[in-house]
Amino acid sequence: MISTVAITATEIVLPGKVEPDGLELRARELPEPAKGQVVLRMDATGVSFAEQQMRRGKYFDQPPFPFVPGYDLVGTVVATGPGVDPELRGGRFAAVTKVGAWASHLVVDAAGLMPVPDGLDPADAEAVVVNGITAWQMLHRTAKVGAGDTIVVLGANGGVGSTLVQLARHAGVTVIGTASERHHAALRDMGVTPVDYRDPDMYARIRDLAPDGVDAVFDHVGGAGLERSWRLLRRGGTLVSYGTAATKDDEGNSQAPVLKLFGQLAAWNTLPNGRSAHFYNLWGGKRRCRASWQRRMSEDLAQVLRLVADGALVPRVAARVPLADAAEALKLAESRTVAGKVVIVPEA
Ligand SMILES: NC(=O)c1ccc[n+]([C@@H]2O[C@H](COP(=O)([O-])OP(=O)(O)OC[C@H]3O[C@@H](n4cnc5c(N)ncnc54)[C@H](OP(=O)(O)O)[C@@H]3O)[C@@H](O)[C@H]2O)c1
Repeated sequence: MISTVAITATEIVLPGKVEPDGLELRARELPEPAKGQVVLRMDATGVSFAEQQMRRGKYFDQPPFPFVPGYDLVGTVVATGPGVDPELRGGRFAAVTKVGAWASHLVVDAAGLMPVPDGLDPADAEAVVVNGITAWQMLHRTAKVGAGDTIVVLGANGGVGSTLVQLARHAGVTVIGTASERHHAALRDMGVTPVDYRDPDMYARIRDLAPDGVDAVFDHVGGAGLERSWRLLRRGGTLVSYGTAATKDDEGNSQAPVLKLFGQLAAWNTLPNGRSAHFYNLWGGKRRCRASWQRRMSEDLAQVLRLVADGALVPRVAARVPLADAAEALKLAESRTVAGKVVIVPEA
């Protein structure tokens, strides 16, 4: 074990249901890493849609307040606990934490570390950790689409969306992507046919582009539009639902919209129409077998990072915001103006 000098972490705390300006900054001495743990120095973390829900108390698996948000990060190992190879020290890794990453330093399980190749910018790598794994798995493990297929991606400018459309294009898939008009030129540059989601006839526009139906629809919006996404599928097509952004501001139980959605998807799967409906969950399978869940995550992130290193996937970093300005980062992500992921970095 490498003995550590006490590390004081700077952390951003979400104290309760607050507006972004209600985030608090604190300093806390970290405990020594226990058996199987390491201390990571954060090189880049980011704002996911999850934090937008968590600050409203609306995340499906809502952590109790107060807590340090931060779904994923890229960081450097600065201390190792007992039973962890001390050679990891100095290495750069990605980790998915769900909470805790909006901090200068944090303790994580060594088993969850995923290598980040040398030479990759940490902010670029960060932008494709959860977003890249989610996009890769939905495309290649859930929908299993390939060259010659046509898909629809809702929110094609978002963190997951902008990664998903690029991975799909790289795999030879034709992509129709919805976004507000300000993002259409960027989508065209990525080889995506854009459709304005503010257009009340959005689904008719998509139908015009793919009159025979599409092979997969990726829908994180849910709500009333989900059925229209389902109806876009051709026979054999797959609906991949992975969120309920439409109900973000609804009052009431945070799990109710998702449970309703599960019921809807299950009902559609009983219909004899050759289509299938899935809910993708990044955490799915973790309880059943943590080791194989982690192995899949690591393998899939490695594929994504290889594409970044090769230039086939360009991480969309919407902005780099210092940790102390996390409130600004959250406001920017919620402004509904950005393309890609708002990344939080240690300092300006
Ligand atoms: N199930 C899983 O395991 C899993 C894993 C990761 C992410 N997710 C989900 O993936 C989604 C995207 O996450 P992200 O981190 O990529 O978020 P993000 O970067 O904030 O992107 C959100 C996207 O959704 C659009 N959007 C937001 N609110 C909307 C609404 N009410 N109606 C229609 N479109 C809306 C945004 O469009 P504008 O920019 O025009 O507002 C943007 O394109 C979230 O719903 C998140 O919960 C699920």
